[in-house]
Formats: sequence, structure tokens, C-alpha cells
Amino acid sequence: MRIIKVKDYAEMSRKTANLISAQLVMKPDSVLGLATGSTPVGAYRELIERYESGDLDFGHVTTVNLDEYKGLPRENEQSYYRFMHENLFDHINISPDRVHLPDGMNPDTAAECEAYEKLIRSLGGIDLQLLGLGHDGHIGFNEPAAEFPRETHCVDLQERTIEANKRFFASADEVPRQAYTMGIGTIMAARKIVMAVSGADKAEIAAKALLGPVTPEIPASILQFHPDVTVIADEAALSECVFQTV
Ligand code: GLP
Repeated sequence: MRIIKVKDYAEMSRKTANLISAQLVMKPDSVLGLATGSTPVGAYRELIERYESGDLDFGHVTTVNLDEYKGLPRENEQSYYRFMHENLFDHINISPDRVHLPDGMNPDTAAECEAYEKLIRSLGGIDLQLLGLGHDGHIGFNEPAAEFPRETHCVDLQERTIEANKRFFASADEVPRQAYTMGIGTIMAARKIVMAVSGADKAEIAAKALLGPVTPEIPASILQFHPDVTVIADEAALSECVFQTV
């Protein structure tokens, strides 16, 4: 695991965009695994600017998103489908048929999960997976649990996650209670992983996830076992990490 310490959110966003840009320059038809939340918004803005300046081309890129709320139609303002279009897809030359998220409106949970796994496999797997970090250590919507979930599944969201995400909704009551998410196994199968972390409110969980024991109680801790993970975290987010120096 490489941990790159940056000054602040703006630098984190630029460095994250640098890694995604490098991936696309080296492999223009990459399969990118994308994330929602406030963390990647700045990096998406950077990518849009690089597209506008002619430095990046998304014409051959395919994307698969980590997760989607269950029961929210795509048109809902808070769906991750809408989020991704507003923050990235509507501003770049990505082909609409190469953009994929779980279908939150599929009531057949087993069928939806199987279809999403099949889709990712049919694309040849994920070249670069971008991740944020939840306050309880979740990645995608893989919440703390007794074991690491392998594949795409439907989760009951934890109170802390509902609380954290209610800022986007009129009230906590409107936050969906369930979501479809790639499993930890799906994420770990990505060839490269980039996790972006920002802010003092992530310091405690960042220290546990990056330096603590690997446990499904802190889902992001499994990343310590991935062969190609780059964490880009700002000073505030790393403020509780005590690194050993020799
Ligand atoms: C959400 C998403 C995650 C995201 C996390 C952190 O619940 N499902 O993919 O990484 O929470 O969000 P933020 O970046 O807003 O802190």
C-alpha cells in the first residue's frame, strides 16, 4: 500500500485525477470503477477540465460504479446514477452505453447482484477502482460485518451511514435503508485501487483502516492485502496515523 500525503482537498483531487489520467493515457479503453460521495467530486472536476482542454479522451472508457441505493429511480435527485451524470458523465465524451451502475429499481435482489457481477466479468474486470472511505470504514456500501462479503449484494445501511448521507436528502427518513454494492471480493479483484481520503473527520477511521488489524469490522482494512493500492490522503485525514520510520 502506497500512502501519499497531500496538503488538502484540492491537492488530493489533483493527485487522484493524475492517477486516473495516467491510467487512461496508458490504456484508453480502461474499465474504471467509480465512487460517489463528496470525496471524489473535486477529482471529477479535474478530469472534466482535462477533457475540455483536450488532454483526456473518454471515448473508449467503460465505467462501473460501486453502488446504488435500492428503491430510488434513476431520475431521483439523490440516485447515484444522477450524481455521476451531474458530476462527471454529462461533461465528458463517455458513451452512455458504457456507463454502468447497479439498477436500484430491480426488485429481484438475487438477479440484480448476479447480473452486475456478470457484467463486470464480461468487461474483463476493473482496471482501476476509485474509492472513498466511510466514517465506519465502509468502502462502496460494504458496512462493518462479521465477514467480508465476496460479491455484489444488497445491504442494510447502518445508522451512521444514514446519518452521514442525510445531508443530501430532505430528512434522514428519506434516506433509503438499503443499497446494492459491489462486494469486497469484487473490489479486491480490481487490478489497481486508488482510495482518496480527506478531512479531520476521517482521521480516526483512516488510522484504523490503514494501520490497524485487517478485520471485516473495518471493511477498508482489507486493502492492506491488495497488491496495488494507492491512498491519497490529506494532512487532516492522516493526523492520527503514526507511521514507523527507520
Ligand atoms: C457513501 C458511499 C461511499 C463513499 C462514502 C464516503 O456512503 N457509498 O462509496 O465512499 O460514503 O462518502 P464521502 O466521500 O462523502 O465522505
